[in-house]
Amino acid sequence: MEQEYILARKSLLNFYKDVPLYYCTKDKKFVLYKSSGITLFDMRIEEGLCPDKLYIKHDDKIRGIQEVQKVFNQQLEKDVRSDNPEKVKETLLNIMEETLTEPKSGSLEGMSETMNIIVCEYAEHYDVIKNLLDVTSKDYTTTLHSINVMSLAIGYSFYINYSLTQKKILGLSALLHDVGKTKTNTKLLTMTEKLTEEEFKEMKLHTTNGYTILNNCKFNNKEIKFTALHHHERLDGSGYPYGMTKISETAQIIGLIDCYEALTNDDRPYRSAVDALKALTLIKKDVEAGRFDKKIFENFVYSLL
Ligand SMILES: [Fe+2]
Ligand SMILES: [Fe+2]
Repeated sequence: MEQEYILARKSLLNFYKDVPLYYCTKDKKFVLYKSSGITLFDMRIEEGLCPDKLYIKHDDKIRGIQEVQKVFNQQLEKDVRSDNPEKVKETLLNIMEETLTEPKSGSLEGMSETMNIIVCEYAEHYDVIKNLLDVTSKDYTTTLHSINVMSLAIGYSFYINYSLTQKKILGLSALLHDVGKTKTNTKLLTMTEKLTEEEFKEMKLHTTNGYTILNNCKFNNKEIKFTALHHHERLDGSGYPYGMTKISETAQIIGLIDCYEALTNDDRPYRSAVDALKALTLIKKDVEAGRFDKKIFENFVYSLL
């Protein structure tokens, strides 16, 4: 049975306004601490005047995520406008991490607003989004990888002059392409040695799991869920999960950028990164072998300049 009350992250306590907070008494009873409509900020949280551990009701989880997303999205807008890639990456990580604690309908759709901010601010602050890749972090997580893929995808969408809607769809498809990994055993995601056949089989499931998660969400566009499902498919049929050869343009673009990011990222645990030129040379071999589309590859190369 799911826990009725869940511990609220301390750093987020003053983000909750409509969501009530509870504390736990010595005899394990949950008592209302802050009702709906006020924030803890008013109660001088920074002075340590509130209990160390506060909880939210599990039924309020999605509502809580939405409140947190709202505050972080406002923060993101400020970070982008102040041209600070470190802060942008940190806020994006916070948004993603909070959203992915409950990756389902009600929380994932909140990423649309995040993408809105990025796409609308990009023209004036494109350096910030491009420089996200240079901001390295200690741990290479799926979240970081997804943010990097998104940053490259947005660059691509501007290079080929996609419409505003297409840009947002490509960005969201990038950000959520690996959402199925929230269902993958964390041990597999952080393993430094090569996966066994059995483990690889389990890893591959992140595509269908991602589709299932996104299929229950209310995004206006089907591309997002099909990209999660098809980004490991290759045009010569050598990919997974189905070995199909007809792949949507979005899934092809994200599939190629996904490879590039994986090859070039320094923070990855199980292999050292190669430089951009070497990565592109390796991907070019895949293009020549018929696995990736030539035009998409060329566009991607130009979008990096
Ligand atoms: Fe993937
Ligand atoms: Fe990926």
